[in-house]
Amino acid sequence: MSVVHPLHSICPYFAMFPPGFVERYVLAFTNPGDIVFDPFSGRGTTIFESLLLGRQAYGLDINPVAACVSAAKADPPTRAALLNRIEALKTQCADAGVIEVPTSEFFEACYAPMTLRQLVFLRTALQWRSSKVDRFIAAMALGCLHGESHKSQNCFSNRMPRTISTKPDYSVRWWAEKELVPPQRDVFEILKRQVDFRLARGVPALVGEARIGDVRNATKMFRKLRGQVKLVVTSPPYLDTTDYGEDQWLRLWFLGGAERPKGRIFADARHGTSAAYWTFLAAAWNGISGLLAPDCTIVIRIGGMSFAPDELENGVLTSLREGLGSPVLDVIQPLDVSEIKNRQTNVFRPGTKGKRVEYDFVVRAA
Ligand SMILES: C[S@@+](CC[C@H](N)C(=O)[O-])C[C@H]1O[C@@H](n2cnc3c(N)ncnc32)[C@H](O)[C@@H]1O
Repeated sequence: MSVVHPLHSICPYFAMFPPGFVERYVLAFTNPGDIVFDPFSGRGTTIFESLLLGRQAYGLDINPVAACVSAAKADPPTRAALLNRIEALKTQCADAGVIEVPTSEFFEACYAPMTLRQLVFLRTALQWRSSKVDRFIAAMALGCLHGESHKSQNCFSNRMPRTISTKPDYSVRWWAEKELVPPQRDVFEILKRQVDFRLARGVPALVGEARIGDVRNATKMFRKLRGQVKLVVTSPPYLDTTDYGEDQWLRLWFLGGAERPKGRIFADARHGTSAAYWTFLAAAWNGISGLLAPDCTIVIRIGGMSFAPDELENGVLTSLREGLGSPVLDVIQPLDVSEIKNRQTNVFRPGTKGKRVEYDFVVRAA
């Protein structure tokens, strides 16, 4: 695989694919111009890597953070449009007078006053659902919103992991114990530097599309793709591994959500029982079934600590047979099982104990 394109890492995400994983299957199972789809798009790795390889690419995700980042990568604006908009936003923010900012201990300890004012301004001003320029700016801001600010000048917050946002009370206690104070950061200047870095290697010639939605509605949402998808490369939420609503509460706040984590936001974010999980997966495959070409290849990466390997294999294959309405499946590649070391970064919540295993399924409806 060639050097990884800097747009891939615009915003990290739990259980994200390495781009090389997508590249391998796109090259093996599609030709240039074919359609690739990811119904659990996360940070949009399948979509962006497929576009780089000259394939058409589409996807969706139920989480606004994932949908925003995926859509930004699917259709990036020009450098000039981004820099003009950031400069205009900077002037508007400076002229805005009083801006009401959250007053909780968390926000006071997380961001320096000027940084928080700029973030709150952007949170209201960015039309990320309707404007591709604003969406790209929002995606860059999401990637800088929290992280290891003692190591990176591009990070807006007091020290935090970059992949997940820690809970407010825990964060405040931890910063106090370590006597950590928020860094002085100019959000607009950092965003301008990000534009140059993220677009330094150009963008794909093809434009893709990523939308917010539920996998079970995928065929309805993408009617134009009916029967045409040649390859699905996807990774559903893993059983009992992370709750995307809680673990990304600060990014969700930036996109318009609540000032504190609200418990479970997405019903499917974390399935507690395997029965509920298999039912969900069967419904998910059923949701995409109308989009698939007759010879479509489906690549699924899945992991979890709660399953014995044969239970997981049986569960995934049964859910596919049920969901696709196809009693027989061609298994294109033997099940690839591997213990996670650095194979796929940030798969599990930091500190998770136990054996961590990933499984790759490659199948086709017979
Ligand atoms: C394992 S992650 C995908 C990561 C992705 N492969 C990447 O490279 O970033 C699973 C994704 O499924 C999404 N998800 C969960 N339930 C969903 C649903 N009902 N419909 C669509 N997406 C859903 C989550 O929001 C999460 O982004």
